[in-house]
Amino acid sequence: MITIEKQIEKILFDTVKNLYVDKDLKPIEITVATNEKFGDFQSNFAMMNSKIIGGNPRAIAENVVNNLVENEVIDKIEIAGPGFLNIFLKNTFLGEIIKKISQEKYEFNELDTKGDVIIDYSSPNIAKRMHIGHLRSTIIGDSIKRMYKFLGYNVVGDNHIGDWGTQFGKLIIGYRNWLNQEAYKENAIEELERVYVEFTKQSEEHPELEDQAREELKKLQDGDEENYRLWQEFIKVSLDEYGKLYSRMGITFDTYYGESFYHNLMPGVVKELEEKGIAVEDQGAKVVFFPEEDKINPCIIQKRDGAFLYATSDIATVKYRLENYDVNKLIYVTDERQQDHFRQFFKITDMLGWNVEKQHVWFGIMRFSDGVFSTRKGNVIRLEELLDEGKRRAYEIVNEKNSELSEEEKNNIAEIVGAGAIKYADLSQNRQTAVIFEWDKILSFEGNTAPYLQYSYARIKSILRRAEEQNKVLNKEIKIEFQDKAERGLAHHLTQFPSVVLKAAESCRPNLVADYLFELSKKFNSFYNSCPILNQEDNVLYSRLLLAERTASVLKEGLNLLGINTLERM
Ligand code: ARG
Repeated sequence: MITIEKQIEKILFDTVKNLYVDKDLKPIEITVATNEKFGDFQSNFAMMNSKIIGGNPRAIAENVVNNLVENEVIDKIEIAGPGFLNIFLKNTFLGEIIKKISQEKYEFNELDTKGDVIIDYSSPNIAKRMHIGHLRSTIIGDSIKRMYKFLGYNVVGDNHIGDWGTQFGKLIIGYRNWLNQEAYKENAIEELERVYVEFTKQSEEHPELEDQAREELKKLQDGDEENYRLWQEFIKVSLDEYGKLYSRMGITFDTYYGESFYHNLMPGVVKELEEKGIAVEDQGAKVVFFPEEDKINPCIIQKRDGAFLYATSDIATVKYRLENYDVNKLIYVTDERQQDHFRQFFKITDMLGWNVEKQHVWFGIMRFSDGVFSTRKGNVIRLEELLDEGKRRAYEIVNEKNSELSEEEKNNIAEIVGAGAIKYADLSQNRQTAVIFEWDKILSFEGNTAPYLQYSYARIKSILRRAEEQNKVLNKEIKIEFQDKAERGLAHHLTQFPSVVLKAAESCRPNLVADYLFELSKKFNSFYNSCPILNQEDNVLYSRLLLAERTASVLKEGLNLLGINTLERM
C-alpha cells in the first residue's frame, strides 16, 4: 500500500493536471493538519502555484474543489485563509487503511531504492574496550539500517573496525614483555589495554622501545609470521568480546572488513591522487590542500615515513565499495569530533570525480548524571556493566510490580526492558544534542521511555487475551466504526506511520520514530479511556478490538525499527 499522503496527492494531481494542462506546476505537498478543525490533511497548492497559474489562490482553491476527480478517499475539502485546502477523509477510507495495516507491505515508489545502502557504524578500535561513543554509533547505525530496510532498500551493515595502525607494534611489545596470562584469560581486552598503557609508561624511560615498536609494526606489515599471528589473535579476542555485547543488544553486521582490509589499495589511491594533481608533496609528506572557500584544513594522506593515515584508508574504502557494490548511498555514523575528517575525505573523493552520495551522521556526547558511571575516568564506560546495571534495575521494578511471575520470566523481562530503556534513551533524543543519561528517568513506566511503550503494547495484548476469553476473537474483516473523536484520532495517527519512518530515515533521525510512538501510546490511552472495548455491542467491540490490535502491531514494528523488543506480558 502506498502512503496516505501519496494517495491524496494523486487525487489532487489528477484534478489539477486536467485544469491547468499547459502549466508547469510546482509539486503538490500534503501535510498533516495542525488542528483537527482543519481536517485531516492540508495542502498549500493554491498559494504555491498562484503565480504560475495567474490568479488569486482562493479562486484556484475553489476551482480545485469544484472539479475534484471522483474518488473514494476525500469526504470534503474546505478552503481556509488565503487559500489553504483543508482535506477531510471519508471514514470508510480511513477504516479500510486501518484494516490493511500489518497485512500489506508499504510501497515507497517515489524512492530510488536500486543498489546498496552501505552503513558504516559501531567500528571500535581493536584491543580497546568500546566506549560510550561506540555505543551511540552502534545503536543509531542499527536503527538507520532497520529503517532503510523498511523503505525497501538493500542494506549492507559494515563494522569498519580499527584493526590497523601504529598501536599494533606497541601492543606486540607489550604482549611479549608485560602480559599477565591470568588476567588475559579473564578479560583479554582489558589486559591488552593495560599492556598498552604500560608501553607508554616504559617508553618514557626507555625511548628505544618506540623504535622497537616501529620495527615490529614493519615486520607485521611485511607479513612476519609470528607478528601476524599475534595481530590476528588481538582481533579475535576483541571481536569475541564485542560480539557478546552485540548479541545482547540484537545487533548484527553484514561485513567486518576493517581498516586493514584496504591496506593494499592505499598505495594506488595515493598514486591516483598525485597523478591527478590533487595531492602534493609538502615537507616530505603527501598532502591535499583544499580551495580556500571550502574552509577545510589540509589533509595528510601519507606521512614522511611512508605510513598511510586514517583518511587514506577511508578513501580506499570508498574506492573498494564503488568497485564491489552497486552503491546507492554511503552512510557513516560517528561522534561529532570526526566531522572534519569526514569533510576532508568526502571532498577528496569528490575531487577524484567518484560520484557517490555520502552522508556523515554525527551525534553528540552521552553523559551520565547519577554518578554511577561518571566517576570513571575518561569516557570509557564498559557496555557490559551498563547493560547489567539496566537489567538489575529493571528486575527490581518488575519484581515489585509482578512478584508472582516465575524467576525465568522476570529475568527475561528485565533483560528486554533494561536494554530497551538504554537504547531508547539514546534514540529518542535529537542525535546532535548531548544526551544526559538518568537511570530513574529512562526506566520509568511513565513519560517518553521504552518501558512506557513496551507496557502500552503489553496492555493491548492483555486486552486481546481477555476478549478471547470471552469468545470475542479478533475479526479482520469487520467494518471499522468511528463513534468517538478519540477513536478517529487514533486511526488518523496510525496512518502516519510510514511517512514518519520515511522522514526519519532520510534525515537519519530515529527520534522522529520515537516521538511518533510516544504520541501513539498517548492517543491509544485516551482512546481506551473514553472508548471501552469489552462489554460493548458486537459491532463496536470488534471495531475497537481491531483498532487496538493494529495499534499494537504498529508499536511493535516501530520499536523494532529502534532495535527494541516487545513483550506479550509485563
Ligand atoms: N574506528 C573509528 C573510531 O573508533 C571509527 C571509524 C568510523 N568509520 C569510518 N569509516 N571512518 O573512532
